[in-house]
Amino acid sequence: MRAGGRDPIREAVRLLADRRNAVALTGAGISVESGIPSFRGSQGMWAKYDPMEYATLHAFMQSPRKVWEMLTEMVSVCGEAAPNAAHRALATLEETGVVRAVITQNVDGLHQAAGSRRVIEYHGNMEELVCVSCWKRYPTRERWTPGSVPLCDCGEILKPNVVLFGEPIPWLAQEQAEEEARTCGLLLVIGTSAQVSPACDIPRIAKESGAAVIEINPEPTPLTASVTDIHLRGSASEVLRALTFLMQL
Ligand code: OAD
Repeated sequence: MRAGGRDPIREAVRLLADRRNAVALTGAGISVESGIPSFRGSQGMWAKYDPMEYATLHAFMQSPRKVWEMLTEMVSVCGEAAPNAAHRALATLEETGVVRAVITQNVDGLHQAAGSRRVIEYHGNMEELVCVSCWKRYPTRERWTPGSVPLCDCGEILKPNVVLFGEPIPWLAQEQAEEEARTCGLLLVIGTSAQVSPACDIPRIAKESGAAVIEINPEPTPLTASVTDIHLRGSASEVLRALTFLMQL
């Protein structure tokens, strides 16, 4: 913890209260307590599915049915999940004018389900399917049933509208995320290993533009020793609940 020897959570509350125009960057860790596995680590998705075989655009174009084995699990798990206390705390912080936007790498839609209004989906979402041939889009619930491989009217296999490795970040999300990073007073970095580019550049952009960076994660990340001002070590729900409680005092 790098908060000049003070109680880091109280220091974080002070910074949030002073700066107010905070933005959150979230990753898979915030949804772990909703039952959605993260990607890295022994229990993560990439321990079960090699991302080079299951999560690249090239893999999808070569063997879409194989990639749908992993996608089926992701769509099902995301479809059954509900927001947890961390998602709800972020929505409360937006409601009370402390946080102005959430940039999320997650594709599960749980921030919106919890009530967050300004959510920038950096890696897309599971709500839609897109045809990689004719670009027609469909709501997932209309085209996909568990165990099936969804087809476009043109006959191609549909892809969820999520960013696979080798695909660019959606243009608008990239622009908006960078703008938020450049202009926020404080960035909350929650539940991301900060290993995937360009999302991992967002904290650096914020820092170089003068923002304070508060990281919420049970583990240190590559940001912790370089960019992070305060590392609040713990699960997203326990730390965010404590923060929102202390903000009200
Ligand atoms: P990772 O799986 O890489 O990292 C999850 C992070 O969450 C780790 O740093 C954990 O320590 C932390 N964590 C675990 N449980 C937590 C909890 N209860 N509360 C808070 N933090 C917790 O997930 P991401 O960083 O989101 O991209 O991964 C980034 C991208 O890599 C994903 O969006 C996905 C993946 O490949 C694509 O598929 C393009």
